[in-house]
Amino acid sequence: DVATQGVHKGLVGVVADVTAVSKVMPETNSLTYRGYPVQDLADQCRFEEVAYLLLEGELPTRRQLNAFRKAEAAERGISRALIRVLEEFPRKAHPMDAIRTAVSFMGMEDPEGRDTSVEATRRKALRLYAKIPTAIAAIARLRKGLRPIRPKPELGFAENIFHMFFGKVPEPAIVKAFDASMTLYAEHSFNASTFTARTVTSTQADIHAAVTAAIAALKGPLHGGANEAVMHMLKQVGTPARARGWIDDKLEHRALVMGFGHRVYRSGDSRVPTMAKYRDEVARLRGGEKWLEISRILAEEMLARKGIHPNLDFPAGPTYYMMGFEIDFFTPLFVASRITGWSAHVLEQMQDNRLIRPLSHYVGAAERKVVPLRARG
Ligand code: SDX
Repeated sequence: DVATQGVHKGLVGVVADVTAVSKVMPETNSLTYRGYPVQDLADQCRFEEVAYLLLEGELPTRRQLNAFRKAEAAERGISRALIRVLEEFPRKAHPMDAIRTAVSFMGMEDPEGRDTSVEATRRKALRLYAKIPTAIAAIARLRKGLRPIRPKPELGFAENIFHMFFGKVPEPAIVKAFDASMTLYAEHSFNASTFTARTVTSTQADIHAAVTAAIAALKGPLHGGANEAVMHMLKQVGTPARARGWIDDKLEHRALVMGFGHRVYRSGDSRVPTMAKYRDEVARLRGGEKWLEISRILAEEMLARKGIHPNLDFPAGPTYYMMGFEIDFFTPLFVASRITGWSAHVLEQMQDNRLIRPLSHYVGAAERKVVPLRARG
């Protein structure tokens, strides 16, 4: 029995290190970033303030925020070389693969490429935070045969993303909902992608290597890929009248219902009520009540029949859909936010590093003798 051998499959319940970045408290369904409740950050702060908080450890003063915004806006541009690379990607490529490759390429271009000092890494983190949205929006445009739209330095982080995707900025309530989603997605302790980034960093590899690997980990539907899967599911259900029958069928076949469940939260995800509030507002403005009604029925059935609550991806998926983003871009938008949390963890890991290298309990063949190829038949 593996449990008796001290094996923790999936690292369930294993505390792998200390962190001062965020605290997940499942017993109270709460989450703080550097001590601040995430709901309050989402409602009261702009994502730029939260990015600063994660990277620098404190909420910025007005002056610090202005300087940070200016530095970010100045780094938004992506190179001609990167655009040429993006143009060569197959149109059918998933945007997560495209942004993963783009970040890997940015690492080769970075002016401080081989400098893995903490200070250079902090500057690289800022460049990644600034350039990732530009690259994602360029991927979205290029695969439709359109020219990328240049970032506008005078626009805020969220407004600029809309500008680069759609060529226009929607009304403030939509921008606020998007900005809040960025804050809610920014950080969540040792989730799979963050732990991946820390593992790569623990070998003294650079931040672009760590982030490339983190994007790879985030793509999977058990992790960040779930926000796309949620929207495919809602579309498949199609109408509120079909929701109950659809879930009956899924549960009968013991299939996963995407956007539900969480390794750490067992009685609700701290971020869901805030995200649901913004989703509902977007639905009101964009006429998406149908998605709310389907979501309500699915959540009700999952709770009644399985005792499982929705996670952040459940309200976030339809919110992005109603804003007009293509489903393939939901997980890349998660990247545009989570780069801040990943970077905070990379910096933390670097400053008190020990190689991450667990053990395994061997259950394969007992030791045996090598038979030479000629004698193997
Ligand atoms: C994110 O770690 C993080 O913090 C991640 C994240 C972040 O901010 O970084 O919060 C972002 O990744 C959110 C999760 C997105 N994934 C999904 O929505 C995919 C669907 N969810 C499940 O696959 C699952 O709940 C996980 C992967 C999220 C958690 O997996 P665990 O902890 O290994 O739990 P489990 O699979 O062992 O589930 C326990 C039980 C099982 O039933 P039994 O075998 O005990 O009978 O609950 C059931 C599961 O089958 N279950 C589900 C379910 N989730 C759990 N059944 C149907 N649908 C589901 N979604």
